[in-house]
Amino acid sequence: MRLKSLLAATAAVMVMGSAHAGGHENPNAWVMNAPTDEERFELIQGQFGGYARAMWEIGHRFRGMRGALRNGNFELAQYHLEEMEEALDDGNQRRPRRAANSERFFPASLWKEVDEAFGSGDADKAWAAFDRVRNACMGCHVAENVEFMNRQPMFEDRGQRRQGRPGRE
Ligand code: HEC
Repeated sequence: MRLKSLLAATAAVMVMGSAHAGGHENPNAWVMNAPTDEERFELIQGQFGGYARAMWEIGHRFRGMRGALRNGNFELAQYHLEEMEEALDDGNQRRPRRAANSERFFPASLWKEVDEAFGSGDADKAWAAFDRVRNACMGCHVAENVEFMNRQPMFEDRGQRRQGRPGRE
């Protein structure tokens, strides 16, 4: 009897111990359940993703920008531009080896000039600026050996000539 209760007590301690192994009982606490801080940071780092994650957002904003210009909504185009710049910065922070080409094709002056062109409210200037953005995206894809990225509808649609015909992308 004594041995049995000793075993039961030991088992209970082990169960409790394993439930608290990562310090938390919640199976959804995927960060906190990792045994060390280092492993927790690694998990978080991995979840942010790399360049592809940034590009996913940038592609969304690029299409949003074109749609905004088509609707004559220059403020929305400026908004997408600003968010796009931040997303590219974040991508460069995560993948520093891409930063040189990123800055080569998107120097600080380009962001500023495009922003001014959108802000001018002049549709011709705004579309010319959009084209500069498009060319910079495509140039960097070639420089970074992902030229195949350029062969997709997002880049085939130059925008301006479809003005007044919203509905695509
Ligand atoms: C540093 C140069 C660089 C610049 C500037 C750049 N890209 Fe990219 N882009 C890449 C690379 C590299 C990849 C492939 C990512 C990977 O391999 O992880 C990519 C991938 C993509 C993808 C595919 C993302 C996915 O996984 O769905 C899209 C869409 C994209 N870029 C759009 C754009 C647009 C739009 C712009 C301009 C506003 C742009 N890119 C500017 C380098 C660049």
